[in-house]
Amino acid sequence: MPDRRSSAWFGADGRAGMIHRSWMRSQGLGPEVFDGRPVIGIATSASELAPCNVHLDRVAEAVKRGVWQAGGLPLAFPTMATGETLMRPTAMLYRNLMAMEVEELIRANPLDGVVLLSGCDKTTPAMLMGAASVDLPAVMVTGGPMLNGKFRGEDVGSGTHVWKFEEERKAGRMTEEECFFAEGCMARSNGHCMTMGTASTMACLAEALGMQLPGSAAWPAVDARRFETAQAAGQRIVAMVAEDLRPSAILTREAFENAIRVNAAIGGSTNAIVHLLALAGRVGVPLSTADFDELGRAVPTLVNLMPSGRFLMEDFCYAGGVPVVLSRLAEAGLLHQDVRTVSGPREPAKCWNDEVITTVAEPFQPPGTGTAVLTGNLAPEGAVLKQSAASPELLTHTGPALVFDTAEDYHRVADDPDLPVTPDTVLVIRGAGPKGYPGMPEVANVPIPKKLVEQGITDLVRICDGRMSGTGYGTVVLHVSPESAVGGPLALVRTGDRITLDTPARELTLHVSDDELAARRADWTPPESPYRSGYTWLYREHVTQAHHGADFDFLHGTRGSAVPRDSH
Ligand code: FES
Repeated sequence: MPDRRSSAWFGADGRAGMIHRSWMRSQGLGPEVFDGRPVIGIATSASELAPCNVHLDRVAEAVKRGVWQAGGLPLAFPTMATGETLMRPTAMLYRNLMAMEVEELIRANPLDGVVLLSGCDKTTPAMLMGAASVDLPAVMVTGGPMLNGKFRGEDVGSGTHVWKFEEERKAGRMTEEECFFAEGCMARSNGHCMTMGTASTMACLAEALGMQLPGSAAWPAVDARRFETAQAAGQRIVAMVAEDLRPSAILTREAFENAIRVNAAIGGSTNAIVHLLALAGRVGVPLSTADFDELGRAVPTLVNLMPSGRFLMEDFCYAGGVPVVLSRLAEAGLLHQDVRTVSGPREPAKCWNDEVITTVAEPFQPPGTGTAVLTGNLAPEGAVLKQSAASPELLTHTGPALVFDTAEDYHRVADDPDLPVTPDTVLVIRGAGPKGYPGMPEVANVPIPKKLVEQGITDLVRICDGRMSGTGYGTVVLHVSPESAVGGPLALVRTGDRITLDTPARELTLHVSDDELAARRADWTPPESPYRSGYTWLYREHVTQAHHGADFDFLHGTRGSAVPRDSH
């Protein structure tokens, strides 16, 4: 019998082996499956509370077929799912909890390899983080995007059009009833958001990192090829166990550099920054916020998808998906090709629609227009701005601050006709960082005040220590670090202070003297936390700042697959 990890359970002598096999046989498994074949866990985050993942049990069935075909023993198990739209206060609060659960479930069970089934925003990074910390062979299958939304003959993007419809309703151009009808047109099938929001971004980056099979990110959730790909992943993981191909061999610095460049090329979500930083921390790869600017600056945006562009994930799939983006970056010398992936060396891919995936020579947006990393006396450890989602005329702007300690404070007065706001105003929303909220929610792109919407103003500079939905847009400075709750300079801004956003120079400046800031700091007291126990207390105690990926400080690094004690 081969000396596998699972053999310590199923190949054990005497009573221990009997216990492990006997209870598994209660599921109808015959004795022949305990012959030392690789045992493959299928971690599925299917949940009716996470609608983007609800179909993953069917994907798991396809993976199982592949594992059986290749001579393995598939065992599916549920993990928690962080449904972006329903979980309060924010799904991000639970990414680290899910990552812990995935890590512990893999390690605690008799598994030789694992297939990770994810979909909604946080589930993909959580699965990758957990699996990386165990470092058993692992392959990811994301659940795929929904079909394109269709409303009145036009494509509508999940998330992106929620903002647009809300603005239309506020401006009196759409009725409540029309919005109600439109919301059904936006979500036509199983799958995650089909804009280049965080879920699509992280699916593409899982492929760019080498953790998904080629083309896997873009097949729509309901496409037969989604299930073919899942079956192929089931076959492949059995071979990966034989090769002992682990995440630590795939998730190298070069793989992260590839992912950062792909993120720039696809016009990916700013949330990818915190997720990749956290994942890099798990595998001990040095990565900083500045890397995203330095590496991304030379990369043009090739993919013309909402929220920055026009098309949706279904179009991206039919154009050729991530393999085309990788091919185009490789041809331009912008990709490390000597990297390991779950599927071996990458093959060149042909593009079937240059409007959706543009060429490097004639890109959708030129190099240097991707995500900018800003620093300055308002963000000593950095802040980020998605230029492609911003208004070009606001990328360089100076204006007076209008400060809100919480996003909720702003929402209470956003429709007030007397709100002291002009098109020059810089809205500062604080208290939304990892510790402050807690959970670093997607509240940064607060809606434009009604008073300005009625004047035809569609964008304002907004600055926040929280995040923005990957489907959102606007001139929004995000992830300001350190956050206000730990005394970052954002905590010291007062209404009326002048702030300069200078994106070309990558600077964010608060025009207040050092002496005045020191005096304000002396007066500042940290906000009191209402949490004395429970998970949220643990989160606040141990979450790191955005520039470290908002992971828990005690989860950095890999811990391997060895089980500390064996009482059987
Ligand atoms: Fe799940 Fe957008 S809400 S991916």
